Amino acid sequence: MMFDVEVMPAKSALAIRPRRLRRSEGIRALVRETVLKSEDFIYPIFVVEGTGIKKEIASLEGQYHWSVDRLSEIIQVVKDSGIRAVLLFGLPLEALKDDTGSASFLEHGVVQQAIREIKKNAPELIVMTDVCLCSYTHHGHCGPLTSCQNTVDVDNDQTLEILGKMAVSHAKAGADFVAPSGMMDGMIAAIRQALDHENFRETAILSYSVKYASSFYGPFRDAAKSGFSCGDRKSYQMDPANRREALREAMLDVEQGADMLMVKPALAYLDILSDLRSNFNLPLAAYHVSGEFMMIKAAGKLGLLNAEQAMFESLISIKRAGADLIISYAALEIAKSLK
Ligand code: PBG
Repeated sequence: MMFDVEVMPAKSALAIRPRRLRRSEGIRALVRETVLKSEDFIYPIFVVEGTGIKKEIASLEGQYHWSVDRLSEIIQVVKDSGIRAVLLFGLPLEALKDDTGSASFLEHGVVQQAIREIKKNAPELIVMTDVCLCSYTHHGHCGPLTSCQNTVDVDNDQTLEILGKMAVSHAKAGADFVAPSGMMDGMIAAIRQALDHENFRETAILSYSVKYASSFYGPFRDAAKSGFSCGDRKSYQMDPANRREALREAMLDVEQGADMLMVKPALAYLDILSDLRSNFNLPLAAYHVSGEFMMIKAAGKLGLLNAEQAMFESLISIKRAGADLIISYAALEIAKSLK
């Protein structure tokens, strides 16, 4: 215990007035424990095949599908906002999808082209890429399936091989970080090995270490066209009921050589963020996911709350709980309000 109640007689209790430190915005700013800055944010970008495309994503307000030739528009906005990093998601042509996600490691795939384009125009911008097969398989699961009935079984070890190739193709194109999100066992070790084998020793790994099977990904499934045709993802993503298992997953990633850890989603999992913060020393990211973002937007539209303030409050709670970095669709608007 840091203080002793006994020493304070009841009658002088009002000598202690915490409200003195809340009297004005000036004082509140002096004692503020958590501050958001634009460098805390990573902005997700969805890249599609084709040309001349900037199309709003119906399920994600203010977010767009971009073709590679128009990417420089959004990259300029990101740079002007003071945000240092983007996370790329690719949407290949439907015709390229197959059982195993083999279009994920094409040299001239949509993500690989996008990385090159960004690195050509803005070499200082940190490019991270989502490394997962769900947008590249026609069944929408995160790897080749051995069963697609009531129970979905993804072939873990075959998936690792493909993820390794995908990560190498992103590194070759110039990605600074690869971010594997498929929750396969051993994925960090497999990707590290694949990268090192091809001499990409400097390419870092941001692991989606603790990713729950969450309904808050709803709007994303539309944005990335990664809805699945059978079952669910519960045989690889984590059970929302589990807390200790999160530490186990994170520990495995640390042992396998992850450079940064992530918890996803963020808001309903602040206890997990806090646990990881106190147990590991690696930089910690949180993914403020599509459903968390759209809930606030929708409530704002209904006039139920002030969406801008609620967004800010959500994001600061994520940082307060222990995140160093926040991946958020609200990154641009928040960065603007921080200026
Ligand atoms: C791909 C992936 C998903 C998200 C990020 N990467 C979907 C999923 O795992 O089902 C969700 C992001 C969001 O909801 O904003 N595996």
